[in-house]
Amino acid sequence: MKTLNHLAVAISLASLCTFAAHGAESKGSVEVVHYWTSGGEAKSADVLKQLIEKDGFTWQNSAVAGGGGAAAMTVLKTRAVSGNPPSAAQIKGPDIQEWGNLGLLTSIDEVAKANNWNSLLPESIASLMKYDGHYVAVPLNIHRINWLWTNPEVLRKAGVAKAPTTLEELYAAGDKLKAAGFIAIAHGGQPWQDTTVFEGLVLSILGADGFKKAFIDHDEATLTGAKMTDVFSALRRLKSYMDPDGAGQDWNLETAKVINGRAGMQIMGDWAKSEWTAAGKKAGIDYECVPFPGSQGVYSYTIDSLAMFKLSSKNDTPGNNAARDDLAKIALEPQFQYIFNQNKGSIPVVKGLDMSQFDSCAQASAKDFADAEKAGTLAPSMAFNMSTSQAVQGAVFDVISHFMSDKNADPAKAGSQLFASIKAAAQ
Ligand code: BGC
Repeated sequence: MKTLNHLAVAISLASLCTFAAHGAESKGSVEVVHYWTSGGEAKSADVLKQLIEKDGFTWQNSAVAGGGGAAAMTVLKTRAVSGNPPSAAQIKGPDIQEWGNLGLLTSIDEVAKANNWNSLLPESIASLMKYDGHYVAVPLNIHRINWLWTNPEVLRKAGVAKAPTTLEELYAAGDKLKAAGFIAIAHGGQPWQDTTVFEGLVLSILGADGFKKAFIDHDEATLTGAKMTDVFSALRRLKSYMDPDGAGQDWNLETAKVINGRAGMQIMGDWAKSEWTAAGKKAGIDYECVPFPGSQGVYSYTIDSLAMFKLSSKNDTPGNNAARDDLAKIALEPQFQYIFNQNKGSIPVVKGLDMSQFDSCAQASAKDFADAEKAGTLAPSMAFNMSTSQAVQGAVFDVISHFMSDKNADPAKAGSQLFASIKAAAQ
């Protein structure tokens, strides 16, 4: 069945290629700034390109390498300041409002109305895509962040019977993997990756409510309390299991170490699955996904979305506007939602799509999302731009990466540093 699913994806992509190759001359162009540059991510972005080309438009790929998107945001700011914005850019959560406040985004209400977006999208997600009551962005997917990825064969070789579900089991697995000569946790020491692990620990130790108090309300007692000290102590402990060669390493190169059997585990959002899928590996057989240990029942997430920019007078042509509208329309159509998300590792953002074509990790993700929505335990990720401004996020990244690089940093003081930095950045 799973082989059939892979075949289905491959066949759909192949048929799109044929359409693209025979497409008529371009009717207009759409330039998209994004940061999907790993093997699996690029394959996913290609789905959008092929569908745009099938409709006779030109896709201008402006991919900026750098996981998490910080480098892409720098490029985007430079482009916007110099009056040469792209048609669309990968911008998420509250940042959409910040770009809207600058007067740089354009309404895509007509596309939204013609394609019934209000009934396709959950209200909470639709409202994130609107600025001043108008749709200015289209969501593509839902990525779960609090995952642990394991290579079961490596775990077995190290004497670890099953993927860890508690922090104690995670430490025990780490000890066994190290003793057996494996990298226990594949991890690239970049601030956003360090913060991904930190965020998982916050969810595990403080739960969804504590997470929200810390990273939505910026509550002093939560940020400086004893449980936050426990989070930093746990982070220190996890560091001892991380790849010793991981300094500055890209996330996908670390994923490759789990795929090729050098490492046992990785803590990463489900775009990690895009690398496993691109390598032809099967969920539940070659790799396993479990919620980050201790954070079961909580679902931290980010939503990839493309915000639409007002074009410069040179680029503001009917053809280019039609190409942008086509991009927006395609993004929420079932064909794109199925193929893109199976390649990307995420789940569809459109309500009610049949998940039976998806692998076991995506099916678990969809179920956990629905359960967390009912239970009120959805956590909009701080590390991935969903809970706070970029300034606050940057302040958190700095504190976490300093803590990670200073082996003498005191876990009991780190929470106060975090609170002070967040407060300064939020002003
Ligand atoms: C994005 C993903 C991307 C990941 C790694 C996240 O912020 O939401 O789409 O794959 O960063 O670059």
